[in-house]
Amino acid sequence: MSATTALARQDIAAHLHPFTNLATHPEVGPLMVTRGDGIYVEDEQGRRYIEGMSGLWCSALGFSHPRLVAAGVKALQTLPYYHTFNHRSNPAVAELAERLLAVAPVPMARVFFANSGSEANDSAVKMIWYYHNAIGKPGKKKILARQRAYHGVTVASASLSGLPTNHRDFDLPIDRISHVDCPHHYRYGLPGESEADFATRLADALEQRILAEGPDTVAAFFAEPVMGAGGVIVPPETYFAKVQAVLRKYEVLLVADEVICGFGRTGNLFGSTTFGLQPDILTCAKAMSSGYVPISAVMVSQQVHEALAANSGKIGTFGHGYTYSGHPVACAIALETLKVFEDEHILDRVRALVPAFQAGLHQLGQRASVGESRGVGLIGALELVADKATRQPHAPELKAGPRLAALAQEQGLIVRAMGDTVALCPPLIISEAELATLFQRLGAAFDQYEQAPRP
Ligand SMILES: Cc1ncc(COP(=O)(O)O)c(C=O)c1O
Repeated sequence: MSATTALARQDIAAHLHPFTNLATHPEVGPLMVTRGDGIYVEDEQGRRYIEGMSGLWCSALGFSHPRLVAAGVKALQTLPYYHTFNHRSNPAVAELAERLLAVAPVPMARVFFANSGSEANDSAVKMIWYYHNAIGKPGKKKILARQRAYHGVTVASASLSGLPTNHRDFDLPIDRISHVDCPHHYRYGLPGESEADFATRLADALEQRILAEGPDTVAAFFAEPVMGAGGVIVPPETYFAKVQAVLRKYEVLLVADEVICGFGRTGNLFGSTTFGLQPDILTCAKAMSSGYVPISAVMVSQQVHEALAANSGKIGTFGHGYTYSGHPVACAIALETLKVFEDEHILDRVRALVPAFQAGLHQLGQRASVGESRGVGLIGALELVADKATRQPHAPELKAGPRLAALAQEQGLIVRAMGDTVALCPPLIISEAELATLFQRLGAAFDQYEQAPRP
């Protein structure tokens, strides 16, 4: 993985990478991924890796599904581009919108399309502001999200994200957006505090925060059902029921960010179903097209839609949208993805695999180097610690998580280190035998890591 090939040299000379240490990239070099099939990707040297993260939590149907390719080719041959501004539409976007409403976890009225999770969340923020102006509450504009949330990187989405690297030196978050407690019981629960008591404490703190801000100023609360990039944090028991009771009391809208959880990841089509969220607005992306093309969606409730429609009627237009909103090729591939989910019984397959996946995680969680194993459905994580009994984390400069991820890569397995938490989010089409191989490779990486825990 150094600059030994012409492609690597090109990359180093010309490509400004996202979420990469730009200063060390010339030395570290790129992992040049050249092809993919099933749950595997292959690098320039022909080394094959199990993609244990589905890329960035997205390739639910693996890297070579023939029906998605065929749907893309057909769409490109029929109508490679058209827009949806000013009353224009295309068959794929109309059909996809209808299908998304049919599978939504709660009744939703309309679907807006964008190209990424960040754009979907930014669009949701703007809709929330527009909505409150429309209903005559122009002072109700503040938005709450959670520490360690990840909602993306555009100006509003990065502000919603609760991770320091998304804010530092970008002059974020913006004024109207601030953060409340992260619901990670293992890290933030008090000694002896049950999950349910922890959830009560967090819901009480949320209520105090809304009262301190002024209920007439707080517009919305953003939440991932399972927090992804913040470390795969599964909500503690009763958390969302208690939080939603507070939100309803003060007429604060709930946005469910289903960008990772959406489309089967937690064992139901949406994380909102798994954890009982009743969102007013839902954002989704990633697995919606299995990551094959950029597309995201914002679903809005009847109440929100009516206000948006009335206000746009007054102004003359809903002045928001993207050149590629409802792109016919992206919509055709997303539509085919949803059909494959149904035809290949992907949810049933996921549910059948969950016990083996969670057992594999749990087993690794018994190791002395792992403080907590956690997960739901086919998403999970292992948090590395210096001391299992006291939960003492490693010193950040030891880079324990990245070291384990590098050892896994040597074993032919791609996982993701988020600090010292190592995440797994395999393609939903993974077979039982492939899952066993994944855990065998991760176990081998752990063996090496534990033999030499320090660099
Ligand atoms: C929960 C969540 N929301 C939003 C985003 C942002 O999506 P994108 O990178 O497509 O802008 C991500 C990306 O990982 C995510 O995990």
